[in-house]
Parts: sequence; C-alpha cells; structure tokens
Amino acid sequence: MQTLKVAIAGFGGVGRATADLLLSRHERYRQVYGVDVSLVAVCGSRAGLADANGLHPHQLNALQAGLSGPDFVMASGADVLIEAGPSDFRSGEPGLAYLRTALSAGLDCIVISKGALVHSGRQLRELAQASGAMLKLSGAAAAALPTLDLLDHSLAGCKVLALEGILNATTNYLLDAMSTQGLSFDAALREAQAGGFAEADPRNDTEGWDTACKLLLLANFGLGADLTMDDLVVEGIQSVTAERIEAWRERGLVPKLIASLTCADGVIRASVGIKAYPLSDPFAHVSAKSKAIRISSDAMGETLAIGCGAEPIATAAAALKDLEHILMARTARYSSLSQPPS
Ligand code: HSE
Repeated sequence: MQTLKVAIAGFGGVGRATADLLLSRHERYRQVYGVDVSLVAVCGSRAGLADANGLHPHQLNALQAGLSGPDFVMASGADVLIEAGPSDFRSGEPGLAYLRTALSAGLDCIVISKGALVHSGRQLRELAQASGAMLKLSGAAAAALPTLDLLDHSLAGCKVLALEGILNATTNYLLDAMSTQGLSFDAALREAQAGGFAEADPRNDTEGWDTACKLLLLANFGLGADLTMDDLVVEGIQSVTAERIEAWRERGLVPKLIASLTCADGVIRASVGIKAYPLSDPFAHVSAKSKAIRISSDAMGETLAIGCGAEPIATAAAALKDLEHILMARTARYSSLSQPPS
C-alpha cells in the first residue's frame, strides 16, 4: 500500500481540529485511495511532536518544548505540509518560512492561513512550479464555502466576467445582528468572538482586511492575477451605526460587506465595501455567519454558492478536502506510472 506522511505546522484550534479529523479518516483514505495516511509531526510556535510511525490522538496533548520550525518539519520525513499557523498578511510569517522550505523541497502544501499567500503568493506559486509540488488553499479562501474549487473545476474553461462574495463570517454576523436583532456593533462583535470566528484582532474583520485577503487569493490563485493589497480599495463596516442600519431597513435594503471583482479586457479590478441588496436578491438572505459567492461567466451565466459550517471543524474539513484532491492526483499519477505500456 502507498503511504503518505503529513505534518501540521500551527497547532491552535484549527491545527488540532485538522489533526483530529485527519486521524479519524485514516480508514477512509485506505479504502478510497488505497493510501495509508499518517500524521508524522505537529508543531506550534514553541513545541511539537514527531513520530515517523505516525502519531496517535492520545499523544497530541503532550507536545515537547523546542520541537518547532521548518527544519523540524523537514526532518519528520513528511510528504505533505498543512500550514495552520497564525495569519499576518503584512509579514507573511510565521507561515512563510515553513512554506518556502517545504515547497522548495517538493512537499505538497495545504495552506490554511492567508498571510503568506497574500504576502508572497507569486513567489510561493513559483516555488511550487519549480519543484512540482501541489499548493492548495481552500482553507484560506473562505474554507467551508467553495470558492477556488468553483473557479478551478466547476467553471473550468469559462471566462469569469465578475465575482462578488460575502467572504467574512464576522462582518456578515455583525451586520445581520444589528439589522435583525437591534444589537449594537460592540455586542454583536462580542458574540462573534465568543463564537470563535472573529480574528484575534477583530479589526482585520471589521475593517475589511480579511475579506480583502480572501478576494486577493481568489484573484491571484483562481484567476491568475498578480494583485497586491495596494491594488485593492478596502472599506470596512466599522463606521456602520444604528441610524444607517435603520435607513437601509426603511428602504427595504440589507447591507453586506462585499468583495467585488470585475474582469474586463484582461484587466482585473477588485475592491471591498458595503453594498445594500433588495430582498429580491439571494445575497440579502445570507444570514448570520454564512458566506456566499456569485460568479458570472461568459458561458455558464451566474453561479451562486452559499455555505456555512461550525468552526474550527469546517476549516479543518476544507483543508482535508484539499488533501483528498492531492490523494486523487497522486493516485492517478501512480496508476499511470504502473500501467504497462500499450
Ligand atoms: N475571521 C474570519 C471570518 C474567519 O470571520 O470569516 C477566518 O478567515
């Protein structure tokens, strides 16, 4: 049986959920792909654990100090790295160092944190291309909501004309709670923090940066653009007051923080800002912490997806969806190599 060794860098809530889900699917990977998938290393910023024979769930609560960093991951013999560390799009770290090392060495990488991808996406794509590694990022690009998969698979061959998305759960939750429950901005934010989906620094959500990061990833990784944050106009929801909410309500409109992208004559323009929708628009009904994406293409018209899942398992599942795609690709490669020549 083929084997596949996985390492996880970043061992907070999402990293742990990913490890648990991965281990619980061990039998599935054997049955569906004929691959024995093992978890050979996990690490946070200061501690980790490795076992070439595969870690077991009961071991994951006893990390050892000092076992961390790109060299530690490489020494584990992993074939695939799942990067789930904190996200800082202004520096790309700590994920960037792990990803540079892993991609350069040809490890397939599944990225959950957006920071490195936003900061150095082009470099990481080039490293992957040069080494032949696969680079997957569903967990970073709105996770439970299918986004890149729609562009890469469902709409393959079509020309994307425009895209708009509700890509951030926190801002959607805030606007919805202010509109439908009359909650104040601060009270709604406290609920989003308690729900575990607001960023550690919630200004990344409320000022539109998290939405902008996801939009940038869709543009650069899904549509082949090469945008940086400086190319985006970014507006958040921090200035939304109860009075503005009431004014929208009186006009029958529902406000949303929207990621917008247009593609005309080969030029991609992207921005983040508030847009208010009439009740006849499906976006007006994307409530609470749900997300949505609407893509207009030349040949398939309008495609709409709405998604929501409980965190952190939804993000873990998005990352492991990427793992399934890697397993499919590896299995196909292996079986084509083992076919006798005709
Ligand atoms: N804070 C983000 C959100 C989750 O509210 O959607 C991570 O991207």
